Amino acid sequence: MDKTDLNKLPDGFDHQAFLSIDSTNKEAIRKLEQGDASGLWITSSEQTLGRGRSGRDWVSKPGNLYCSLIQKVGDDIQKSAQLSFVASLAVRDTICEFVESDLVKCKWPNDILISGKKISGILLESYQDKQGWNYMIIGIGINVAHHPDKMLYDATHINEQVEHIFSHVDVFFILTHKMSKRIGGWQKNGFDHIRSCWLDHASALGERISVRLPNEQFEGRFVDLDASGALMLDMDGEIKHIHSGDVFFAE
Ligand code: BTN
Repeated sequence: MDKTDLNKLPDGFDHQAFLSIDSTNKEAIRKLEQGDASGLWITSSEQTLGRGRSGRDWVSKPGNLYCSLIQKVGDDIQKSAQLSFVASLAVRDTICEFVESDLVKCKWPNDILISGKKISGILLESYQDKQGWNYMIIGIGINVAHHPDKMLYDATHINEQVEHIFSHVDVFFILTHKMSKRIGGWQKNGFDHIRSCWLDHASALGERISVRLPNEQFEGRFVDLDASGALMLDMDGEIKHIHSGDVFFAE
C-alpha cells in the first residue's frame, strides 16, 4: 500500500475513536439512533462488553483492533448478508499486508485464519431507522498484540506471525482502505465476484467438515457457497444449504 494512505481515511468515511467503551457495535446503534451515520468507523482501544457471534463474549483487552463500520444498505436483505463476505475479504486483504498471503484463509461464514488459527472475527448486526432505511453494522475484531487462550478454536495474533511489532492503529487504517475498495468492487461488480474471490481463499473447500448449530450438527463435504452465501454441504449425495453455524474441520 502507498505509505501516504496509511494515516488518513478513504474519501466518504468518518472516524470516531474511544479509549474504552462497552462495544463499538453498541455505540454504532446509539449513533444510528441519532440519525444517518453511514460511513462512520468507530474504534475503541478496549471494550468492556465486546460481543461475538452466537451470543458469545469477545475478550477485548487493549492492544488489539476493535472497530465497527456503519453501512447503509437497500431493502434487499440478501445484500446485507453479502456484506459478511465483502468484510471478510477486506479483513483478509488487510492481514495479507502483514503475513504471507498463502497462509491466510477465509473460514465460513466470516472468520479469517492464519495457518488454521483464528486471527479475526466479524459480527454483523442490522438496524432499521424510523424512515425504514436499513443499515448494517460491521463489527470487526483483529488480534494484533495478543489472542485469547483456546476457547472454541485455536487463535493467533499478527505480532506472533511477523518480526516487526505493529499497532492496532496501523492495522485500522489499512483496513479502512481495503474495506472501501471491497465495498466499491461489490457495488460495481455484484456478489458473484465477491463469492468467487472468497472461494479462491476458502479454508477446507472440498474437505469433510462438521457444522454446529444451536441444537443440531451436520457432517459432510464442504462443496460450494450458493448464490446467497449459504454453505453447501454434501451429506452422502444430499446437498444441504446452511445459513448459519460454526464450522469445525476434521482432525
Ligand atoms: C466472532 O465471534 O468471531 C465475532 C467477533 C466480533 C468482535 C468485534 S470487536 C468490534 C465489534 N464490537 C463488538 O462488540 N464485537 C465486534
